[in-house]
Amino acid sequence: MPDIQSIMAQMTLEEKAALCTGASAWTTQPVERLGVPQMVVSDGPHGVRRVPDVHSLSQPSLPATCFPTASLLASTWDTDLLCEVGQAVAEECIALNVDVVLGPSNNMKRTPLCGRNFEYYSEDPYLSGELAASFINGVQGKGVGTSLKHFAANNQEFQRLTISAQVDERTLREIYLPAFETALKKAQPWTVMCAYNKINGVYCSENHELLVDILKNEWGFEGLVVSDWGAVHDRVASLRGGLDLEMPGPRDQRVKAVVEAVRSGKLDEAVLNEAVHRILRIVFKAAETPKGGTFDVAAHHALARRVAAEGMVLLKNNGILPLQNPNHIAVIGRSAQVPHFQGGGSSHINPTQVDVPFVELQKLAGNAELTYAEGYPADNSFQQTLIDEATTVAQAADVAILFIALPTFKESEGYDRADLDLTPQQVALIKAVTAVQPRTVVVLNNGSAVTMNEWLDGTAAVLEAWMMGQAGGGAIADVLFGKVNPSGKLAETFPLKLAHTPAYLNYPGENGEVRYGEGVFIGYRYYDAKEMPVLFPFGYGGSYTTFAYSSPRVSARTFKDVDGLTVSVDVTNTGKVAGKETVQVYVHDRHSRLARPPKELKGFAKVALQPGETKTVTVRLDFRAFAYYHPAYHQWITEDGEFDILIGASSADIRCTETVTLQSTVKLPCVLHRESTIRDWLDYAPARPVFDPVFQQLKARMAADFGGGDEQGGVIGMDTLGFMMDMPLLGLLQFQEAALPMPADAIVDGLLAQVRSLT
Ligand code: BGC
Repeated sequence: MPDIQSIMAQMTLEEKAALCTGASAWTTQPVERLGVPQMVVSDGPHGVRRVPDVHSLSQPSLPATCFPTASLLASTWDTDLLCEVGQAVAEECIALNVDVVLGPSNNMKRTPLCGRNFEYYSEDPYLSGELAASFINGVQGKGVGTSLKHFAANNQEFQRLTISAQVDERTLREIYLPAFETALKKAQPWTVMCAYNKINGVYCSENHELLVDILKNEWGFEGLVVSDWGAVHDRVASLRGGLDLEMPGPRDQRVKAVVEAVRSGKLDEAVLNEAVHRILRIVFKAAETPKGGTFDVAAHHALARRVAAEGMVLLKNNGILPLQNPNHIAVIGRSAQVPHFQGGGSSHINPTQVDVPFVELQKLAGNAELTYAEGYPADNSFQQTLIDEATTVAQAADVAILFIALPTFKESEGYDRADLDLTPQQVALIKAVTAVQPRTVVVLNNGSAVTMNEWLDGTAAVLEAWMMGQAGGGAIADVLFGKVNPSGKLAETFPLKLAHTPAYLNYPGENGEVRYGEGVFIGYRYYDAKEMPVLFPFGYGGSYTTFAYSSPRVSARTFKDVDGLTVSVDVTNTGKVAGKETVQVYVHDRHSRLARPPKELKGFAKVALQPGETKTVTVRLDFRAFAYYHPAYHQWITEDGEFDILIGASSADIRCTETVTLQSTVKLPCVLHRESTIRDWLDYAPARPVFDPVFQQLKARMAADFGGGDEQGGVIGMDTLGFMMDMPLLGLLQFQEAALPMPADAIVDGLLAQVRSLT
């Protein structure tokens, strides 16, 4: 790496300003006289979308492997596999002359309506963070950069360029930031891409708190922040806010504005220098990896097939799967012939080859006869004749495989979904086919949850095949014929209906704002808290074998938060075929001062087991597994007390529970003030020695005044203690001032001073 300081010392102000805005759609500005090369970036995330001419924003891209999209990748729950995909993507970047791939996309699935959910991993920040970190480590281990995006709270496509996500501090810290934080701390992506939207009124591209205070200073991000394409509104404000590189370019006016701002003193040159330094570091780092050559097309296609099979989720199976030597299979549905394997928008890959499900089924079907019916049209029209043809074909066969793909006009980057339903034709088709052929297997291709109430009961099996990548057709055949035992589990809840979803009343927002009113209760956190039934819970997925859990154990019954805890359980394959199980570890805080979700995923592990085999699965829980973010203290805190460790096969299928006691080592700063309530004083442990005697006197006086004991209603029928709890100490004392030796505010100030001197 050349000496960046010395290069910067030789750069003119104009050159520095120019470096901070792209030279073209996909390249940074080179400075030839100083040997600063250009850097090439390309979408991302589940394959490389390298356009031949880097000056062209949109043109057919060069062939690359289209791996399954994030919904499927996440359903593998396999961090090693994500790393392997990352490595393959990096090899393709090298061959296609790409320095940085624009991914992974790591936003939370706040609502299943988000049109871009197919590109996001999960509704759970822990799972998303772990997967993103593995993918990044895979890519970057090969010397290619990544762009962790879209930072942050880009959870809908509706008005995504302007909407303000109104999110409270705790929700941001516990739900919308941790997946980025984990990925960053475990993998240091070379770049982070800021989102289009605003958070609490401030564009992410100008958001100093987000980009500088949190990302760079608190988390220690070493790379550069790049804008989402066109997310910059005011270049000078965005530099001040911590946005290092604006894309795409060229934008001469922006460069001029930066130069003028520095000259006029409106922008501190140190801010520009910081951005230049970050950009140069990454540009030179990227140049260390020689580009060119070829990649192994066949090997990557095979990997795409293996991954696809690993992430498909068996949602229902009455025993029909795996298929047992059927003689005549009706293959119905357009997507059997025209595979739907990726989503619309910037992530769209030009695949090296595509497996057609019908063809792949034929290859594994032995001598079975396969007959095809289209079932539904490419557009949204209703065509009864297609349904009639399909039922005729289904009736004549001994099993029907019904391929249903949610069309791009219902789900894509750029717009949100209007509902969670399939098209009317698709619903009618499934109902008609299952009515005449009870041995019907539905294979779904979609990027996020769909509803199934109208038709699920009639089916024999349902396989969620997601946007399965270019080799998904082969993977479907592998799963249906039992060459692969399905092991995918849902990384998002499938609700019974749209009106049940957590953000339902607070989506898509109005007047330019969307209020995250459900707070930390998204996904299963919400359904659990509301005790609501769902169609398929988070973490759920079927297998052709069964697993038993036994001998749960924890490393300690009582432990310090900083020491963490190790949780183990034995898992046995109790069925007849080899399979894989993902063990999930959730934490439940039995008593907390702030409301917490009933359970939160804090660890998981996937194991492969032969029939009859037992393995021990071990998961490590650290401080953060037990902590929550307290907005009053602006920090992660733990509280003394009992926690349940829930070990399960899904969020709704907890197999073992272990109860442990945590000892908190967190030292809380004093946040008591004149208005603090009695409860605040009691809750703040360091204040207890000072406050307890005062509290006893107050209680006694209250009981005397109201003629009742602590818990019994006094003369006016109230629980005096309960009544006291939420009164400010100052107010309560003022109320009794006549009986006090000095003014109430002097007493409170004195107590505050004593507590502060103790902490
Ligand atoms: C998308 C990004 C993408 C960029 C470049 C934007 O519209 O939000 O995810 O990387 O375009 O194509």
